[in-house]
Amino acid sequence: MTQTLLLLPGDGIGPEVTAAAARIAKLVAPDLETQEGLVGGASIDAYGTPLTDETLALAKAADAVLLGAVGGPKWTDVARDKRPEMGLLGLRKGLDVFANLRPAYCFNALVDASSLKREIVEGLDLMIVRELTSGVYFGQPRGIDTDADGTRRGYDTSVYTSPEVERVTRVALEIARGRAGRVCSVEKSNVMETGLFWRNEVTSVHQAHGAGVELSHMLADACAMELVRNPKQFDVILADNLFGDLLSDEASMLTGSIGMLPSASLGIEGTPGLFEPVHGSAPDIAGQGLANPCAAILSLEMALRWSLARPDAADRVMGAVAKALEGGARTRDLGGSMSTDQMTDAIIDKL
Ligand code: IPM
Ligand code: MG
Repeated sequence: MTQTLLLLPGDGIGPEVTAAAARIAKLVAPDLETQEGLVGGASIDAYGTPLTDETLALAKAADAVLLGAVGGPKWTDVARDKRPEMGLLGLRKGLDVFANLRPAYCFNALVDASSLKREIVEGLDLMIVRELTSGVYFGQPRGIDTDADGTRRGYDTSVYTSPEVERVTRVALEIARGRAGRVCSVEKSNVMETGLFWRNEVTSVHQAHGAGVELSHMLADACAMELVRNPKQFDVILADNLFGDLLSDEASMLTGSIGMLPSASLGIEGTPGLFEPVHGSAPDIAGQGLANPCAAILSLEMALRWSLARPDAADRVMGAVAKALEGGARTRDLGGSMSTDQMTDAIIDKL
């Protein structure tokens, strides 16, 4: 049966890096059918909404979805529920991709591109598993109100249910089994009820389903510090939606550039995964052909591995990126001067 990959280039550098990944897909999986749709600001401009029912239906029907990036200054003044980011959140929620895998590995060739010392990052390979469809990102009530006496207030609700914590914890345990077998769960159980709840739930899920996996707990602020002090102590970091967002941006800098980091968002077995670079739409360099295509290309690599069951093609992509970097291929974010196309050519050359 033909597999389909839905490309949602989005905004800013999204279309440039998605096009690079599509070129690679044609070479390593020529039988893969690609479709294209609009999301984010691009969808607002065309249809007045960041995610149409049609795009969501296309995504649900695909085998995997590769998204570029959403957002940009052009849409800062639109109402919150119509912002480009809501397209991304709607897609995550609509596909129910609750487990967001954000690997941070340091390619040997980039050890000196990190802002941290070589010995801290050399050989780094950790995986952040971030809960993606609940927590403070979606909790109700939320709002900005004015009280009767004129006092204004802004508020959000951080909430998790036991099934939500259980399913993402089980993914983290499973991922750890295929790695070094260690999960570090992070929260703020010292100040937050959801933090304490998270810690207790993770502990009982581990007791029931965690055979062979070592579980530890860490406060999220301490984890932020440990990530730059001694990141190699971590194997799998399990975090809620908000802490996972923050810690994955931090972890990206260990690898040299946020332009290197892919992510996979997975739901239950048999549903399409959503794959996207961790970086944003980078409006400051959009349209100039300067973006690093590696994060998008490595997101394709994750799609081939996690949703499309093509590990050989995934290995080819991973190997080619590593070899291109070893050969000195560098975009601007990595201290070089290659354009997006030149970087992609250098990777294609090593396939
Ligand atoms: C990410 C981004 C998104 C998030 C934004 C664009 C909504 O920062 O994927 O990490 O906060 O989840
Ligand atoms: Mg983020």
